[in-house]
Amino acid sequence: MSVHDEKTSRVTVPQLQKRAREGEKLVMLTCYDASFAAISEDAGVDMLLIGDSLGMVVQGRDTTLAVTLEETEYHVRCVARGSRKALVIADLPFASFQESPAQAFRSSARMIAAGAQMVKLEGGAVMAETTRFLVDRGVPVCAHIGLTPQSVNTLGGYRVQGRGEDDALRLVADGKALEAAGAALVLMEAMPAPLARRVTESIAVPTIGIGAGPDVSGQVLVVYDMLDIYPGRKARFVKNFMAGAPSVKAAIEAYVRAVKDKTFPGPEHSWS
Ligand code: KIV
Repeated sequence: MSVHDEKTSRVTVPQLQKRAREGEKLVMLTCYDASFAAISEDAGVDMLLIGDSLGMVVQGRDTTLAVTLEETEYHVRCVARGSRKALVIADLPFASFQESPAQAFRSSARMIAAGAQMVKLEGGAVMAETTRFLVDRGVPVCAHIGLTPQSVNTLGGYRVQGRGEDDALRLVADGKALEAAGAALVLMEAMPAPLARRVTESIAVPTIGIGAGPDVSGQVLVVYDMLDIYPGRKARFVKNFMAGAPSVKAAIEAYVRAVKDKTFPGPEHSWS
């Protein structure tokens, strides 16, 4: 059985950047398999992220740290088979890119061969050299700053980042360094809304928020969180879009609508 009714063309990075410049909010959702890929993009999701959150929501682990490149590659293949329209982004797992730019390139090449069009990597200015190395070799990069779950052991937990002025200045500098290194998108996780706005205003590439307030170029959520499937602790930034929805597809459509018309996230999903 095919999950596609018709052949369509895939959205490109320049198209997404143009839409963001014109004021359209971009919608990203995590995805780990072909069926969710097909219904998510039919519901209007612009970007499908094979997040290393799969370690927690699919594999039942306590953190994302044990997810391997092979496991991510498998899920990228599944998502790519189900997708025709959305940009497919592979999250490079812990220890698959931090060692050197060359290691990051080898890992990215596997993700691209598996069907991704972009890779995401956690880390601020320290990842600028790696980002430049990848971009110069044809790999689009989504940077990920703020709360970076792969650093949970150095951060001492899943905490909001950038509360003090020194940390805020560092995060603004991270965004600028990653933009200068060629990142196509900057994802910001668990940061006070005014700081996320400050980063967004200081760079020209689109910013994607998760727990970063409304003043960013787009939003991302973990699909099992927004469908209320994940039994673990719910973060403040999660909204249950399944509540009152007649189907999973309708819930994802409601998420897309809420991001596009700027009714999600509300103040109750953000930190000030
Ligand atoms: O792994 C993931 O799902 C992510 C999102 C939370 C942004 O990185």
